Amino acid sequence: MHQDLEVYLPKFKIMLSPNIEKLLQDQVTKEASSSQTYLSMACWADVKGYSGAAEFLYAHSDEERMHMLKLIKFLNERGSQAVISSLDAPKKDFGTLKEAFESILEHEVKVTESINHIITACLKENDHLTNNFMQWYISEQMEEEQLARSIIDKLEMIGSDTSSLYLFDRELTSLQGHE
Ligand code: FEO
Repeated sequence: MHQDLEVYLPKFKIMLSPNIEKLLQDQVTKEASSSQTYLSMACWADVKGYSGAAEFLYAHSDEERMHMLKLIKFLNERGSQAVISSLDAPKKDFGTLKEAFESILEHEVKVTESINHIITACLKENDHLTNNFMQWYISEQMEEEQLARSIIDKLEMIGSDTSSLYLFDRELTSLQGHE
């Protein structure tokens, strides 16, 4: 048996290295923070009368919570105990609808960087199991970034045309992610 593996193989579980465990714990907090940010954004959109965007964002907030839960269960199954941290309150005002989606894109690009960082660490440590688990997240990030970019492009085309904006807001209800 490889000596490193022996260290992380007490009894029946293949445990995480301290470094990978820390990175996954941090990712739990990032996904929780994403969920809260989108929830706050959904409230803002609801009150502004963007009911389609609000529905989209409420669903997006639920998706981020699901991303967090997947990580929590993975940590618990790999011999760790997921830590639930307190979060800073998200902001309440997001400017225009286009600015709101620009901030979503900016946020998701950072999340993608964070996922990439975890995968790089897994490769360095030969943690193929966690690497395999994280591949789902990287595909999800690609879809989320692409969706945010396409929404921003449409909002750019719409500009200040309020009737087109009204129609696009209604369309947003059908543009939710798949999970
Ligand atoms: Fe779960 Fe959009 O990051």
